[in-house]
This record gives sequence, C-alpha cells and structure tokens, in this order.
Amino acid sequence: MTWSAETLARAHDIIARYPQRRSAVMPLLYIAMREDGRLTDDGMRQVAELTGLTPAQVQSVASFYVMYKTEAQGKYLVSVCSSISCFLLGADDVLHAVEQAAGVPAGEADEEIGVEHAECIGACGGAPACLVNFELVEGLTPEKAKEMIEWLRNAKPDVINADELQTLFGGRRSFDWAIKEENGAIGPYPAFPPFGTAAHNTQPLEPGRRPMSNSQPAPLEGGTS
Ligand code: FES
Repeated sequence: MTWSAETLARAHDIIARYPQRRSAVMPLLYIAMREDGRLTDDGMRQVAELTGLTPAQVQSVASFYVMYKTEAQGKYLVSVCSSISCFLLGADDVLHAVEQAAGVPAGEADEEIGVEHAECIGACGGAPACLVNFELVEGLTPEKAKEMIEWLRNAKPDVINADELQTLFGGRRSFDWAIKEENGAIGPYPAFPPFGTAAHNTQPLEPGRRPMSNSQPAPLEGGTS
C-alpha cells in the first residue's frame, strides 16, 4: 500500500527531527501500523525506503519490540500482566475474566477487543495490573476486569485514559501519581496524538507546557558546545 501524501509528509517531518534518518525507524513503524491497522510487509518496506535501512533491518526492529503488531488488535488492546508479582496476586484469574467477558482468548482479537499476556509493565506495587491501549490500571480483580471489558464494549470510549480506568475499575496502586494526565490513548498504537512524538500534538497544551518538538536543551553554564 502506498502511503497518502499526508502520511508521507508526517513521516518526513519525523525524519527531519533526527540527525540520521535511520533513527526514525521506530516512530515510522507506528505510522505503518496505524496506516494498515497492523504492521504489514508493505508497510515495513515503506519504512525501509524512508529510513535507508534494509527491509530485514526494519523487520528485526519490528519483531524485537512487543508493541509492534503484525495482526490487527481491534480498537482496544487489553494487555494483562502475567509476570511474577501479578501472577502471585491473581493475574491468571484476571486474564481468565478478561477472556471470558471479551469472548476472546489471549493472543487473539475481534474487531473491537484484543487480549494478550504482557510481561511486567512496571506496576508491580499495584499488582495485578493491566494496560488498555497502553494506559495503565492497577489493583484489578476478576470482577472489575469483567466490568471493564463490558464498559469497553458498551461505552466504546474514543480515548482511553489511565486515570479514568483507575477510578472506574482499579484498586490498590503502586503509588499516588499526584499529577492527573488529561490526555490518553486514541488507539492501540502508542506514541500517536495526543502524545505528540510520532505526530504533532493536536491537543491544547496546559499553561506552562510546551510541545516536545520545540523543547531545546538549556545551554550549559560556562560550558562550550
Ligand atoms: S509483575 Fe505485573 S506489573 Fe510487574
């Protein structure tokens, strides 16, 4: 599939942020995934062409990281942590509840919901934990996990937000995050708006915040550059 002019423009904009175009391989893989709904051979070839890498090099990056998916994941990707802390505190029961409520076994997806095992997602203190479109919810129980899946099916939220997930379905957390994050994920593709890394941030910024792409390192005092 050939990318649209708009998508190509976005890709070139990302490439221009790096000293070497090959360094843009990871955000461009997200674009390829978003363009086709999954990572296809054509998409990876397009990334290879744009970055100057070989298709084999692009494929080795894509196959190394778990967030790149060669199969469609539905609108909501539910990643249930099954590493040791979560496992000891009932992750298997949570995963089973998710699978049952979604009617989708781990490793598969329908058009709306994908379910997968995940290795430690860095929320051991709030185990058992899971991610929905890479947004975190901690202290899950099988009952709450089932409610969460029913909510996804019925409410069909456009944006998944960790704070909302935690308020509606979460329990004990690793720690109090203190800062509320207003933005969330708009699909099972990390690093797209509103994060502003693989694309421009389209959300209004809070006062005092500035777009990441405009951030400049402060000059070192008395140093040379
Ligand atoms: S073991 Fe599940 S978050 Fe670390």
